[in-house]
Parts: sequence; C-alpha cells; structure tokens
Amino acid sequence: VEPSDAAPSPAARTAGSAFLRAARGESVPHTPVWFMRQAGRSLPEYLAIREGVGMLESCMDPEMVVEITMQPVRRYGVDAAIFFSDIVLPLKAVGVDLDIKPGIGPVVAHPVRTLADVEAIPDLTPDHVGFITEAVRGLVGELGATPLIGFAGAPFTVASYLVEGGPSKEHAKTKAMMFGAPDVWAALMAKIAGIAGAYLEVQVAAGAGAVQLFDSWAGALTPRDYAEHVQPWSRQVLERAGSLGVPRIHFGVGTSNLLDLMGEAGADVVGVDWRTPLERAIPVVGDRAVQGNLDPTLVFAPTEVMTARAAEILDAGRAARGHVFNLGHGVIPSTDPDQLARLVDFVHSYPLD
Ligand code: CP3
Repeated sequence: VEPSDAAPSPAARTAGSAFLRAARGESVPHTPVWFMRQAGRSLPEYLAIREGVGMLESCMDPEMVVEITMQPVRRYGVDAAIFFSDIVLPLKAVGVDLDIKPGIGPVVAHPVRTLADVEAIPDLTPDHVGFITEAVRGLVGELGATPLIGFAGAPFTVASYLVEGGPSKEHAKTKAMMFGAPDVWAALMAKIAGIAGAYLEVQVAAGAGAVQLFDSWAGALTPRDYAEHVQPWSRQVLERAGSLGVPRIHFGVGTSNLLDLMGEAGADVVGVDWRTPLERAIPVVGDRAVQGNLDPTLVFAPTEVMTARAAEILDAGRAARGHVFNLGHGVIPSTDPDQLARLVDFVHSYPLD
C-alpha cells in the first residue's frame, strides 16, 4: 500500500486521458491524436538541439530524450507523447555494432546470416538500458496527465535491418533466410522477440502507459508467411506487454492484407496506414480500436483540403471500438509544424456525434 501523501503514480495521473480511454474502447471527451515521428526533423527546435550530436548519442542521453520527446507535446498539445528513440536502440544497447546514418537509417556492421551470428547477440537485461529507465522516469514526471507511449521494433522489421545490414526495399536476404533456413530464422526471431519484450518491460516499469510495436515492413509478406514465420514472435512480445496491463498498438505499412492477423497477434489497437480506408479496416480488426490514418502528404495540401479528409477519417472512426487519430505513417521531415498544429486543433474540436 502506498503512503497517502505519495505523489500519484503515472498510471493514476493518466488513467482518464482521451488516448488511453480510446485505446481501451471507452468513451472519450474528444478523439485523441498524436503523430508517429512527431518529434524529429520537422521541428526547428529538434534540429537546433541535435546540432553536432549523433542520432544514437542523442537517444542514449536521458536529458536530450526528455527534451526532444516533450517538444511536440508542448507545441501541439497532442494526447500522447512517444518516447524518442529508435527501433535499433536496444540492439545497440546489448552491443550490436550499428549506427544510424543521416538520411539513410540504421546500418549494421556485420549482418546476421548464421546461427552463430544469432547466438552472438546477447539477451537484453535492464542493466543494458539504465539510460532508458532514467529518461522514461524523467518524462512521466514532466508529462503529468499526458501518457507516454513506449515502443519497440517487431521481430520481422528489426530482423530485416540485421540481416540486410541496412534499409532495403525487397527484404530479399531476410526472406531468403525465412524460406531457406527456418531454424536460423526461428532463432533470430526468438532472440529479437526476447529483446523487444524485455525492452518494453523496462519502459512500462519506468512509467510508460502504452506501447506500440512497429512492424513497419511486415507489409512485404503474404498473410500465409506472416502467420507462419512472423506472427508467433510478435504475439510473444505483445502478450508479454499485455501482462503488464498497458494497451498495445500494433502498426505496419502496407498491411491491408494483414490487419486481421496483426490484431490477432495481441493488439488492443491496430495501426492502419493511409492506403486502407478505415471503413475497410474496421470490420477486419474485430473488437479492437484503430489508429490512423491520414496520408502524411495531406498536410502539404491547403488546410481546408487536409481538414476535409481528416473529417472523413474521424467520421469513419466512429464505427470502431475506439479511434486514435494519427497519420498513416510518420511525419515527413519537410512538414510545416503549423499545419500539424491546425490538424490537432481540428481533431480536438470535431464533434463526437
Ligand atoms: O517521434 C517518434 O515517432 C519517436 C521516434 C522514432 C524514431 N524512430 C526516431 C528517428 C521512432 C518511433 C522510430 C521508429 C523507427 N525507426 C521505425 C518504425 C517506424 C516507422 O517509421 O515505420 C523504423 C523503420 C526505424 C528505422 C529508421 N531509423 C529509419 C527508417 C530512419 C530514417 C532515416 C532517415 O534519416 O530518413 C531512422 C532514423 C531516425 N529515427 C530519425 C529519427 C528522428 C532521423 C535521424 C535524424 O534526425 O538524424
């Protein structure tokens, strides 16, 4: 039992938030909104603080993580913060030799190809990521009633960077392992699932109120291959997060054909990219909330064009168990932050019925 004069826990402070209520399928005061990649290069204050500091370096500095994560919350009044980090950060933390190159993305020095390569990757313990615990604790203190979304990369998407050695369009080497060396593949997926699960546990233990599992590149798979070679391990991660009592968002790009399976993997909220109208996604995801899904390029259109499309998405979202408004993928770096501010205001003032 907590002493009665103790500060309320992060969970108590955020319990009534529109974001967590929508994620749980409860009634909301307004449709909640946040943006994937809301922190980052679209914000001048981000570019200023990152001047001369490498991406990974900034992710491992709790003070910078707190500041960068807070920037879009202050600017936009979004309904949730997303922890500033990257999906490859836990790999870096356990000792995998990798870097995040500007304009390219994650690059892995020694790509994973054999069982020995997989076994050489250590499992993640909380000691590897003390700076994450520190940053999350600092953040939930500053955020008050605004929930923090922790996140991890899903096994398939992280495997793609590890096996290809960097970003890839076809994921050919990754799929070659999946089809041709199922034992190595299973070991790799189990390894990443363990790391992702442990990483989410650390974030939730430190105060994150929800988690998002990013399987950004799962849309490269057929439903059959997703179900056989990917879903079991994403399910492990999502079930582990679910046992911590926080809502789980599961997102990928180009996943029209996978939305049912991604929900069944253990999501409370299924993230939908902009290519799939919510009217089509909602019946497929079953009794779950949806997140999305304005085309990220619509913020470059005249404001009234953008808001008309946002209104269509808000109307469609009414049919879901819950709706968290978002873009259909991350904020494009050349986005005008003032246009995102107008979008947040529009979503917040849009009538619920
Ligand atoms: O605001 C947020 O959404 C939180 C921060 C965040 C980053 N990466 C910061 C980042 C999150 C949630 C991620 C996840 C991530 N990283 C994903 C899944 C989400 C998605 O976009 O589908 C993926 C696939 C990655 C891998 C990755 N890291 C890519 C493709 C890139 C972009 C390369 C580039 O420069 O265009 C990165 C680098 C990265 N991650 C940046 C940021 C802000 C840019 C680095 C910089 O500012 O120098």
